[in-house]
Amino acid sequence: MQPEGVEIRDVRPEDADAVRRVVAAAFGDGRGEHGTEVADLWDAVVAAGHVRASLVAAADGEAVGHVGLSHAWVDARRALVDVLVLSPLSVLPDRQGRGVGTALLAAAIERGRALGAPALFLEGSPTYYAARGFSRGSAHGFAPPTERIPDPAFQVVVYETHEDWMTGRLVYRDVWWEHDSTGLRDPELAEIEARFG
Ligand SMILES: CC(C)(COP(=O)(O)OP(=O)(O)OC[C@H]1O[C@@H](n2cnc3c(N)ncnc32)[C@H](O)[C@@H]1OP(=O)(O)O)[C@@H](O)C(=O)NCCC(=O)NCCS
Repeated sequence: MQPEGVEIRDVRPEDADAVRRVVAAAFGDGRGEHGTEVADLWDAVVAAGHVRASLVAAADGEAVGHVGLSHAWVDARRALVDVLVLSPLSVLPDRQGRGVGTALLAAAIERGRALGAPALFLEGSPTYYAARGFSRGSAHGFAPPTERIPDPAFQVVVYETHEDWMTGRLVYRDVWWEHDSTGLRDPELAEIEARFG
């Protein structure tokens, strides 16, 4: 369900600065320059031409949230399979907890289906995403792009166009590696593994 007064729409050229602000603010607080790093990553994904969808949540004409879908592959035995990665998902800190993230996720899942992708992947909290349509990648025969993603955090939506042979390792485009933006690193990785048990 869409929160009242919030419209989810495709990003327009004039939204570029606002999207950057939303991403930097969402990932910024309490994590040093992390917000700027994630905003730089998304700008690089855009510049590299890997974006397949970029949606903003707008309230009173202002961008308050954003979600990006970009291209990746599953390295299946038979062929490389074109798939989608959902990242980043961002909601302005003072707008969080009111359903904007949930609405952006629902719109992103629908867009992935409309694009004809067989699968949509992300890295994130299993609690948050499992309640919003995602399930464990490993349960569908997918392997993560790095061992530094705890199994419960490697999440996927498998669409109707997926065929049984389309399993294998998720392979990110180079830009994700150039920005060191795949998986977690210690000490955060060890802390989250300890929490998952
Ligand atoms: C994660 C995020 C997009 C959620 O957006 P939101 O608009 O606050 O989410 P909603 O209002 O739709 O949903 C709120 C729920 O999300 C939970 N939640 C928020 N952030 C969470 C997180 N990082 N991990 C787990 N749960 C989270 C809230 O506890 C709440 O749970 P409830 O529905 O059981 O009460 C937003 O908090 C955000 O931008 N966070 C910073 C950036 C980030 O971590 N992005 C995701 C990277 S995988």
